[in-house]
Amino acid sequence: RKNLVVAIDGYSSCGKSTLAKALAKKLGFIYIDSGSMYRAVTLFFIRNQVEINNPEAVSDALQHIELNFHSRDYQSHITLNGEEVSEEIRQMPVSETVSEISANKQVRKEMVKQQQRMGKSKNIVMDGRDIGTTVFEDAQVKFFMTADPKIRAERRFKELQTKGDTTTTLEEVFENLAHRDYADTTRVESPLTRADDAIILDNTELTEEEQLNFALEQVQQHL
Ligand code: C5P
Repeated sequence: RKNLVVAIDGYSSCGKSTLAKALAKKLGFIYIDSGSMYRAVTLFFIRNQVEINNPEAVSDALQHIELNFHSRDYQSHITLNGEEVSEEIRQMPVSETVSEISANKQVRKEMVKQQQRMGKSKNIVMDGRDIGTTVFEDAQVKFFMTADPKIRAERRFKELQTKGDTTTTLEEVFENLAHRDYADTTRVESPLTRADDAIILDNTELTEEEQLNFALEQVQQHL
């Protein structure tokens, strides 16, 4: 491929999007948060009570979903049928359901198709669970991110608190992450796993700047 693709996969809440955004900004690449697409689809399914086990209902729902990204300063702003849903998709109701919805074969097929289209000709950084293994198997640079589960829960908990969520406890966040990691790694359709050629990045004890510098060094070899 002529355009450069940086694929970042890994467990829930280990800083994939923080690194991806910083990297995209530094390199002038487009940042795409694939998780927000699964989250927006999940929000639509919750609101419309779409039955995930009914293939016809799922297919019909997917035809009525239009997702768009509005890049504002490398934050991922996503719209669902024209409505800005970036905040709502980060809240617990969506977090608790997203792994079930994203395990669906029809849902994945449609998302992967859209993601591949977005990375066809432009230089991109995309983060998710199956970017280096399925969406862009031929990505020139792949990272597999991981961090201590307790640290991850604490980071996500702080983030929720900053956003004004005073009801979710640290234990609930920890449970949600553990549940999603389990569901994401054990599902049948493109489970979360490290691509053979992905570079492991454990950021338990790394600052954001250290991670960025490490990642930049890897990407720059391909520029
Ligand atoms: O990245 P984020 O934590 O926002 O993703 C939410 C959920 O979406 C993940 O737990 C996973 O179930 C699903 N997902 C996926 N494939 C991707 C990105 C996210 O299945 N490429």
